[in-house]
Amino acid sequence: MDTVTAITTGKLVAQFKEWLAEAEQGEPNDANAMALATSTPEGRPSVRMVLLKDVDDHGFTFYTNLGSRKAAQLGQNAQAALLFHWKSLRRQVRVEGAVAPVSDAEADAYFATRPRLSQIGAWASKQSQPLEGRFVLERRVAEYTAKFNVGTVPRPDFWSGFRLAPVRIEFWQDRPYRLHDRVIYTLDGDAWTAERQYP
Ligand SMILES: Cc1cc2nc3c(=O)[nH]c(=O)nc-3n(C[C@H](O)[C@H](O)[C@H](O)COP(=O)(O)O)c2cc1C
Repeated sequence: MDTVTAITTGKLVAQFKEWLAEAEQGEPNDANAMALATSTPEGRPSVRMVLLKDVDDHGFTFYTNLGSRKAAQLGQNAQAALLFHWKSLRRQVRVEGAVAPVSDAEADAYFATRPRLSQIGAWASKQSQPLEGRFVLERRVAEYTAKFNVGTVPRPDFWSGFRLAPVRIEFWQDRPYRLHDRVIYTLDGDAWTAERQYP
């Protein structure tokens, strides 16, 4: 270990936000996209992309359908990992920790900010369930569009968010000749330690 530095969660989040802000300037789309790794009941890794919707001292928040495969897996094993890869910056950030549901009030507040058609899409999609054909989904969208008419679209109770509270964060920056910079922060009790690792 060549560097050991006590650091606050706030400083780490600030570092992450700096990298995300730089990515937002350069990436063509979805700089907030992250791979979310969970595991099946058999212990097989399972990974898919989701969008980061909030990050603060409490963790990294994303939203999804609570009937989805990922939600079922998180219900059985809350341990998860996130991966951001910003190609144009040649950077990655790896995050590990346990996931917990956000509050209903927080999910309601975020849902209310979504475009109306995305709100209706949330009602129409039985995410991760078999779909007979595209037309069935389109029919469900039409049905919910008619149901809510011009009124407010409430958040479905099967749609909400999860927050991953980090216990390990790695910042990785490409350097020439594959001699990349890697700094790994680990939460030990309530203090973070930093360690540089060989690339
Ligand atoms: C760039 C990108 C962003 C995505 N964002 C989300 C998201 O925020 N929430 C979500 O539920 N699915 C999102 N998806 C779809 C998921 O990758 C996945 O297909 C879906 O959630 C079903 O996964 P599951 O069956 O493992 O639950 C996104 C896909 C891509 C490619």
